Amino acid sequence: MAKKITQQVEAELFDISELSTVEKSLVDHAISAVENAYAPYSNFHVGAAVLLNNGEVVKGSNQENAAYPSGLCAERVAIFSAGANYPSEQVKMIAIAAKPKDARDFVMASSCGNCRQAMMEYESKQDEPIQLLFVRPNNEILKTTVGDLLPFGFDSKSLKGA
Ligand code: THU
Repeated sequence: MAKKITQQVEAELFDISELSTVEKSLVDHAISAVENAYAPYSNFHVGAAVLLNNGEVVKGSNQENAAYPSGLCAERVAIFSAGANYPSEQVKMIAIAAKPKDARDFVMASSCGNCRQAMMEYESKQDEPIQLLFVRPNNEILKTTVGDLLPFGFDSKSLKGA
């Protein structure tokens, strides 16, 4: 008989006014990064802000390309930039905001599978959870972690058979 395996994931929903000063500031950075999106093909503008242990914030936005697959999501632009410029710093938190062109409110961009995998690599490398803050419509913030976003994920431990 098959054994059922359940993996629980958690997320919390906040009003933006309930965030700590550090969290609110990171969300503001993600919102400002939306302005730098280069998204002439999808018109879907995404910003991400990575908070490092040393207090530095590294921003990214989606960068599209006429050869569509050559573009990259905001989350990976930001986290790869953080990894490239601050290779020894841990990633504490990532805030993500998105807005379709001309929309009045934000929409939640629940990171794509490739970004979940890319963020998982850094969580696994530092062996500390990375907090995620997703901006949602109506001033809501969904707070979770990379591990919660990618249950049954593949990481460096998987290569060793764990
Ligand atoms: N995109 C992101 O930057 N992050 C997400 O979480 C979802 C999707 C980008 C990729 C592409 O430039 C556009 O949004 C539409 O998919």
